[in-house]
Amino acid sequence: MSREVRTGSVVVDRIGELVTNDPTLGEGPLGIVRDAAVVVVDGVVTYAGPRAGAPVAEHAGRLDAQGAAVIPGFVDSHGHYVFAGDRAEEFAARMAGQPYTAGGIASTVRATREASDEDLAAGVGRLVREAALSGTTTAECKSGYGLSVVDEQRSLEIAGRHADEITFLGAHVVPQEYADRRDDYVALVAGEMLDACAPHATWIDVFCDRGAFDADEAREILRAGIGRGLMPRVHANQLQQGPGVQVAIEVGAASADHCTHLSDDDVEALAASDVVATLLPGAEFSTRAQYPDARRLLDRGVTVALAADCNPGSSYTTSMPFCIAVAVRDMRMTPSEAVWSATAGGARALRRSDVGHLGVGARGDLVLLDAPSHLHLAYRPGVPLVRSVFRAGARVR
Ligand code: NIG
Ligand code: FE
Repeated sequence: MSREVRTGSVVVDRIGELVTNDPTLGEGPLGIVRDAAVVVVDGVVTYAGPRAGAPVAEHAGRLDAQGAAVIPGFVDSHGHYVFAGDRAEEFAARMAGQPYTAGGIASTVRATREASDEDLAAGVGRLVREAALSGTTTAECKSGYGLSVVDEQRSLEIAGRHADEITFLGAHVVPQEYADRRDDYVALVAGEMLDACAPHATWIDVFCDRGAFDADEAREILRAGIGRGLMPRVHANQLQQGPGVQVAIEVGAASADHCTHLSDDDVEALAASDVVATLLPGAEFSTRAQYPDARRLLDRGVTVALAADCNPGSSYTTSMPFCIAVAVRDMRMTPSEAVWSATAGGARALRRSDVGHLGVGARGDLVLLDAPSHLHLAYRPGVPLVRSVFRAGARVR
């Protein structure tokens, strides 16, 4: 269903600072090991620790890190890569004072429906490659700009050729042709569209917010998806306080995404649940909106993920280093928390235990930085610090 993983073998040696995200392997929550080496054989980590203890791995290429830092590949758990056209004019108008509304989605839906499969696939491939160049080794991708049975189904089928985790988002907004009969659209999404899309996805998502779907509609669609074997995740509380987070908790979602406008009850409910709060700094940056307060969530013990939310409307970036820098500067995260959230946090949001860390048995996804420490990702914003990227031990940069 999702893209094939090409595997390779490599020894990365003379690592000045290795972030494993495994506290049993090293210092602090990031499990930091200094003067380290990582060995990946046939796509899987077989050693991560001090250089001195590294086994000899025959047939594996050797990369000399020359004292630089290595971190796990980024796990970007939230992206909308299947679309045609762009909305640069809408962005420019916003920067001149227009507010962001979900209404702009309709123009991308028009362009996406008109595009050929080949053009859509080329666009997804381009964005997944772009993300990989900045260190993303696991990418989630949603439908949501087709909003008809045939266009949602083909969006998912195309996403599956390039991305790792595929999410059905037929409930992005109500398309214009259903504006006067939204109940019929909800029934379509939960019925015929779900039947066509479920074989091409692992996840189901609903945009539960102002201008999109209300709590009852979201519950109906998410429950129908769960009934078809999909796992739920929710676009929640982006534009205003509302029921999105509570719905996510009720249905046992892996993740509530955005979490920008939260009541105290929302924060307490998240803390008492195992729902990951996925924060998307690119969206607030590009809509000039209030940032979510990560500190408020972290201080209550909520698991926080960071993701890029790449889409042509609210956040046209694939760069996780950019998201880390913004999250540290404007969302009250420490640099170490932000790196954890962009790697291990993303893996939690996708319920993946094989990525987001570099312990033995993990997939060999790692990023060699042009910097001595992971702290530099926030400390040196906008600088291309990603020197080399390996996915399952195969070099992608
Ligand atoms: O996650 N919030 C809903 N969906 C996207 C934006 C979609 C668009 O504006 O095209 C998001 O930010
Ligand atoms: Fe989104």
